Amino acid sequence: MRNPVMLSAGVLGISHRTLRRVYEAGAGAVVTKSIGAEPRKGFKNPTLVDLGVGVLNAMGLPNPGVKEFVKEVEALKRDGVCVIASVYGFRAEEYAQVAGELCDAGADAVELNYSCPHVSQVGLIGQNPQLVAEVTETVKHSVSKPVYVKLTPNVTDIASVAKAAEEAGADAITAINTVRAMAIDIEFQRPVLSAVYGGLSGPAIKPIALRAVYEIYEAVEIPVIGVGGITSWRDAVEFFLAGASAIQVGTAVYLKGLSIFRQITQGLKRYLERKGCSTIEEIVGKAHKHSSSPK
Ligand code: SIN
Repeated sequence: MRNPVMLSAGVLGISHRTLRRVYEAGAGAVVTKSIGAEPRKGFKNPTLVDLGVGVLNAMGLPNPGVKEFVKEVEALKRDGVCVIASVYGFRAEEYAQVAGELCDAGADAVELNYSCPHVSQVGLIGQNPQLVAEVTETVKHSVSKPVYVKLTPNVTDIASVAKAAEEAGADAITAINTVRAMAIDIEFQRPVLSAVYGGLSGPAIKPIALRAVYEIYEAVEIPVIGVGGITSWRDAVEFFLAGASAIQVGTAVYLKGLSIFRQITQGLKRYLERKGCSTIEEIVGKAHKHSSSPK
């Protein structure tokens, strides 16, 4: 990657044109919308609501299916874009098949989505370390590109799930996906989302994501990719200090536009200069040296 600030899965991620625009706006790499074996319409509207403190969505994993999407990945690679393919499935073999086809199309890495909080079969994988290990191992046997595992915060002990993924061969952990949440319309007296529950993203979840990255960094040796509520270079710095080797930005694209990528990379550069560092690696995990939580 040309810089460590990626677009996260789910935002502008379904066509090569929008993903290329994000790359041209300065992202170090782009992660696609999660792609499955078959086309999927997703849930009925309403699927997204802006709550002010964050955004709640339950899209239902809409996507054109892998056979159609390989064309988008091929087009991105022709344009020289660094692309990570997000993959979901309902069985280990399905993850492996979709990951394999997207890697063959040129994806630079795959990110396994075990963490959608409102498509239960997918979210449930991420809540079970044994299933995480099984799917990760199956995918690792069938692709030669790096495999990232994206975890859900909707568990008691995210570090143990990360450890299971690492032991199964994951090359990096992405943390976190959205936080399971809901909203109720007081006039209609019913849940706002058609799926009732959804995933909360944006500023409200930043402290949760930061805590997850901090815990995972202490549990695993592989790189951690931090995501969740990052809307400024200051937020990004916090994630690197907590142990992230790279970060992803999603909801901030909706809140602040595509200029967010250059705002963050330029802010990071100035911060590193001010601290006398020449590489981002010099600050990764640095907050751990100065802390010990009471036992
Ligand atoms: C969705 O498409 O419903 C969101 C996917 C996710 O949160 O993983």
